[in-house]
Amino acid sequence: MDFTKVKENEKKSVLEKKEIVEKDFWRQKYHIQGIVGLINDPNGFSQFKGKYHMFYQWNPLGTNHKNKTWAHSVSSDLLHWERMETALRPDTWYSKDGVYSGSAIVDDEKLYLFYTGNVKDSEGNRESYQCLAVSSDGENFERWEPSIVNQPDGYTRHIRDPKIWKKDGKFYAVIGIQSENLEGKAVLYSSENIKDWKFEGEIAGANHGKIKDFGFMWECPDYFQLKDEKTGKIKDLLVFSPQGLEPEGDLYNNKYQTGYLFGKLDYEKPEFEILSAFVEIDRGHDFYAPQSMEDDKGRRIVVGWMGVPEDEDFPTVKNEWIHCLTLPRELKVRDGKLYQEPISEMISIRGEKIEFEDFVKGEKEIGKGKTYELIAKFSDISSDFGLKLRVGRDSETVVKFDFKDKKLVLNRSCGAQSDKSVRKVFLGDIKDLELRIFVDNSSIEIFVNNGEEVFSSRIFPLENADKIIVFAENETKVKLEKWEWK
Ligand code: FRU
Repeated sequence: MDFTKVKENEKKSVLEKKEIVEKDFWRQKYHIQGIVGLINDPNGFSQFKGKYHMFYQWNPLGTNHKNKTWAHSVSSDLLHWERMETALRPDTWYSKDGVYSGSAIVDDEKLYLFYTGNVKDSEGNRESYQCLAVSSDGENFERWEPSIVNQPDGYTRHIRDPKIWKKDGKFYAVIGIQSENLEGKAVLYSSENIKDWKFEGEIAGANHGKIKDFGFMWECPDYFQLKDEKTGKIKDLLVFSPQGLEPEGDLYNNKYQTGYLFGKLDYEKPEFEILSAFVEIDRGHDFYAPQSMEDDKGRRIVVGWMGVPEDEDFPTVKNEWIHCLTLPRELKVRDGKLYQEPISEMISIRGEKIEFEDFVKGEKEIGKGKTYELIAKFSDISSDFGLKLRVGRDSETVVKFDFKDKKLVLNRSCGAQSDKSVRKVFLGDIKDLELRIFVDNSSIEIFVNNGEEVFSSRIFPLENADKIIVFAENETKVKLEKWEWK
């Protein structure tokens, strides 16, 4: 196999397309995006020698799901990212059809990447290799021959996306997999030396334990613990992206989903004993394959792909790029419930501020902006109310509380995107509502009541759409603070 051209083709593609990409007014200001081409899952999210490292699935050659590499960016504050040389390319026999997703761990002053090598044979059959790469400087990676070749008995070759951690001197990884009867599952592996891995068993899955039919593949599993801030109890979480769920009312409306289970990991059995229902982690149109890490401040930070597989009809494709990652969020548990909060660093990019406080009935324009943070508090609620953002000719994104249905509704149908569907979440009887919203050039992220619910969606407003409008059917008390991003 001749891999000499892989790097060359990447560099050539970047050179050819960069200029057209950079002219696009939908390019994001504070979100990780590819310099050209397509990006998807965050990978290898870690902290090494004082810097945050983010790797991510990247096709440098086009806006489709091919030629996957691991792009690499580093940051000191999780908001300003410096792009590094591509960390892993499909230039080995065991990753020739894509360096697929995986995770990172820092051990013994080295940064290890644990990822899936994707290979298609001459008949188009898949082979999957779980492989390691190691770096002492956080920039150059030495690749090792595969550690896990294909799958354990009873499963198909859909095995990928290892998420690694260390406990009591031993390494563990949870990996997404498909059983021979085509059900999505999560399996546990262990290793004493990080190189040789042992199959421990299936810890969760569709038609396993309490879970019935639940998809044909579970991608990108993540396992971690959080301490409940109220009760002090340690909670285990399993986050994963099942494929094959059917929509149920407001639930599972994206092509594929991501959610979590509370439970308890029993390493001996091994089994993830489930203690909750599956909850979708994000209510927006574009969220998938998140990955978390614990930083040196003890925070569990998560970043998702702001996109979903097989949803590629985006207006940026004509400008040679597609997709981005979400803003980083901190995960917390309070009284048995998961909250997602914007990281505290978000306030460091606050620039010029406008404020508004009054009773509103009808519509009121309170200012303008394209990339900003907005905190809106509504009280004395007795009717529909909300915000219209990035408003202009043929553009608006509407965040509305539907008083009768008691639901928060995100409607981004008025813009350049082809998908016109809305997303909703039931909030129940509320007396007041707080929304913390981050608007970038082509995305919106809405944190509801301190992160009880989050919506992440790409939006494609036309170029000069920048009005911020607050509205209410009956007189409603509104307090707004808005900071333009520096
Ligand atoms: C999830 C996913 C992973 C895979 C990667 C390939 O979006 O399909 O399962 O490793 O993307 O890019």
